[in-house]
Amino acid sequence: MRDARPSAIYLKDYRPPAFLIQRTRLAFDLYEDHALVAATLHIRRNPAAEPGEALVLHGQELELLSIALDGRELAGQEYSLTDDTLQVASVPDQFTLTTRTRIRPQDNTSLEGLYKSRTMFCTQCEAEGFRKITYYLDRPDVMAEFEVSVEADRARYPVLLSNGNLVGSEVLDNGRHRADWHDPFPKPAYLFALVAGDLRSVEDSFTTCGGREVNLRIFVEEKDLDKCDHAMLSLKKSMRWDEEVYGREYDLDIFNIVAVDDFNMGAMENKSLNIFNSSCVLCSPATTTDKGFQTVEAIVAHEYFHNWSGNRVTCRDWFQLSLKEGFTVFRDAEFSADMGSRTVKRVEDATVMRTAQFAEDAGPMAHPIRPDSFIEISNFYTLTVYEKGAEVVRMIHTLLAAEAFRKGSDLYFERHDGQAVTCEDFVVAMEDASGVDLGQFRRWYSQAGTPVLSVNGEYDADAERYRLHVRQSCPPTPGQADKQPLLIPLAMGLLGDAGNLPLQLAGQAPDPETGDNTHLVLRVTEAEQTFVFEDVREPPVPSLLRGFSAPVRLEYAYSRGELCALMSRDDDGFVRWDAAQQLALSVLEEVEGQILGGDAPVVDPLFLDACTVLLEDASLDPAMVAEMLRLPGEGYMAELAARRGGARVESIHLAREAVLKALAEHAENAWLDTYRRNVVSEPYAPEATQVAARSLRNLSLEYLALARPEHIALARAQFASAGNMTDQLAALRVISQRGSDAQRDEALDSFYRQWQSETLVVNQWLQVQAAVPGEQALARVRGLLEHAAFDLRNPNKVRALVGGFANGNPLQFHRADGGGYGFLGEIIEALNIRNPQIASRLLTPLTRWRNYAGEQGVKMRAELERLAALPDLSPDVFEVLSKSLE
Ligand code: PHE
Ligand code: ZN
Repeated sequence: MRDARPSAIYLKDYRPPAFLIQRTRLAFDLYEDHALVAATLHIRRNPAAEPGEALVLHGQELELLSIALDGRELAGQEYSLTDDTLQVASVPDQFTLTTRTRIRPQDNTSLEGLYKSRTMFCTQCEAEGFRKITYYLDRPDVMAEFEVSVEADRARYPVLLSNGNLVGSEVLDNGRHRADWHDPFPKPAYLFALVAGDLRSVEDSFTTCGGREVNLRIFVEEKDLDKCDHAMLSLKKSMRWDEEVYGREYDLDIFNIVAVDDFNMGAMENKSLNIFNSSCVLCSPATTTDKGFQTVEAIVAHEYFHNWSGNRVTCRDWFQLSLKEGFTVFRDAEFSADMGSRTVKRVEDATVMRTAQFAEDAGPMAHPIRPDSFIEISNFYTLTVYEKGAEVVRMIHTLLAAEAFRKGSDLYFERHDGQAVTCEDFVVAMEDASGVDLGQFRRWYSQAGTPVLSVNGEYDADAERYRLHVRQSCPPTPGQADKQPLLIPLAMGLLGDAGNLPLQLAGQAPDPETGDNTHLVLRVTEAEQTFVFEDVREPPVPSLLRGFSAPVRLEYAYSRGELCALMSRDDDGFVRWDAAQQLALSVLEEVEGQILGGDAPVVDPLFLDACTVLLEDASLDPAMVAEMLRLPGEGYMAELAARRGGARVESIHLAREAVLKALAEHAENAWLDTYRRNVVSEPYAPEATQVAARSLRNLSLEYLALARPEHIALARAQFASAGNMTDQLAALRVISQRGSDAQRDEALDSFYRQWQSETLVVNQWLQVQAAVPGEQALARVRGLLEHAAFDLRNPNKVRALVGGFANGNPLQFHRADGGGYGFLGEIIEALNIRNPQIASRLLTPLTRWRNYAGEQGVKMRAELERLAALPDLSPDVFEVLSKSLE
């Protein structure tokens, strides 16, 4: 049924399509046990392709009912079918192909193509889902104008949506009705969308800078009508921001968002009909945390921004995915920074990079932001393509500066509007508009792995000269043994006793353009390079990688005293945070060493005092204080330990607990004071000041619960009286992590009773339980698989419970008996065919097996081998397994 071994495809094999489709007419007939799709494709030979090729259309899991060429029904021998193609041997240079196919959306559990989510029909076509709807040239460089009609039962599916404008509708006699849609913008099939359901909508409007009145609607199930306001506000903010910052105006009279419960990813930017995972669009203070509100704002913006960076200008092929995703993530990150706290946003993004993306880049699935081969493209919607891709765009922004970058983006949009292009086209537009040579910089697109910058400083007091020696290297990654030096923008300053010192690079005139002479972006281009600063009056502490100016690992042997200096006095918020993290890591590693050596842990008082000073300084931004006092996670510690030879889950855990507890006890009064001081008395709003106060207050609660068991009372009181989900869930976490068994069970039960009708809240409840410590954790999670609130078909629930356990409960996932790995393996096995994308993503923690010392690594590998031996692996799962075991 399935090819024995799925094979890879290569970027170097790209060929232009042999045929183009100018117009695509689709007619859907939706029924309760099947759907009929009639497609009329206006096709012509691509003048840019080699002549004489046969017409080969993509198609999967389709039942072909009829096929006609220019109106003439084709006989059996005139075409041929395989599992995923339809080939017509001889066709003229221009023709119309008409097919009728039957599909079964009700049985589609993969959630790509046309499927049913609860009571509604919806589609997900990116990357290659359209071929599960009809026979087509399902590749992004084939762009067509779509006309779509949807027919369905009128009572069950009163709302019928597709892309573009509604151009007609009709009530039919048999209880059915039909809507006709036309999208004037040619688009690839991956941007097609259809929705049919019993939906309600909230409505608003936006007037563009050019005076266009746009009707905005968010469609949801009736019960969720009260949870759309924040998304609507976010949409309007995004539309304005894209006009102001990028000069991009919206291009149609309507913009629709639909919320669906069953969705593999966060959301999808289908032209004028964005489809969202309900967890990424629905919000209310009672049911959504501050983090949730921020996610919704960011994802609404991200999908909206795709209208230009993705839809108007799209990707030539899927190797270019980062062209639209990296750029759009950069755009949404800047939007979020402008809407809230820029430094906090930068810290959050740097954390994701360093904890999760660096791990990916060091693991068996490592790939450049523009991969050069893949087996299953769904496996490449990764942190590397998205987040590192955004960091690469950010570096271009840094190298060109804002004004030239904007000229570059204007040129890119103007030059390529309506085209399917490559990452190279983007870089060329940036170069052409700015005159900056990005030749060496291009290696960021082709080279995988996280570069390491090893820096040391040398001060010559007599000459008042400071030398900064910089070495760059990049570890080998699969298929790339040797790495070339990159162009790395290294933003920096020099910290003296009384603040930042003026910077004067030897042999270089002071920069007249920036009034600020204490901040510089060094261009690191060589494997080894020295930067010399003149007139340095005192021995400085270098402040490096300000603003996380490049996605690299920075190595500098700071003393703890130097870290304290940076942490309390540097100009750059990111560096202050990073210094706090480095200081914490050095203390954590020291304590882990003590534990492994059989000694009682002793936490350096320098660290404890520095943290207490931060906490007591009421002049600081509470959000930043919270970020600085949140210790690096066990997963990140494991990743770093692996680089030094192998992670030990237990000692990492014990070390982190010991340091947390020491800090909790040392600063108990300060924590208590912070907890009392940061009460928000205004009505809930997800705005920066309130978010900051709640964040620090809830961190205080975590430490207090550790300082003294009696403080659990504070958490219980907060849990009972909280007026918003941020505070209630934070309290529930503390109780379930630190309270007694009885306290935990009581809180969890009462939370479920309170929220059982709110699916998204119930998912949080599942996730909290997945992280509950102790021997019983695995049995608890297994038990929850049977709970009415769980459903293996729903990706959000799988992520919350199964992902929550594998990623959020390290000690129990890595149980010595291997039960955690076996459990994850069972779920992956169950989802392998049913939902390959989710199955494949769940594999991630097991792919890190090489990081773990001793039996754990061995058992993780054994589980991967067991899975690899299963018959009928989906290409998604096969690819990750085979690369992990290589
Ligand atoms: N293109 C979507 C986004 O980033 C993500 C997505 C990919 C959704 C594939 C569904 C399937 O914005
Ligand atoms: Zn995207």
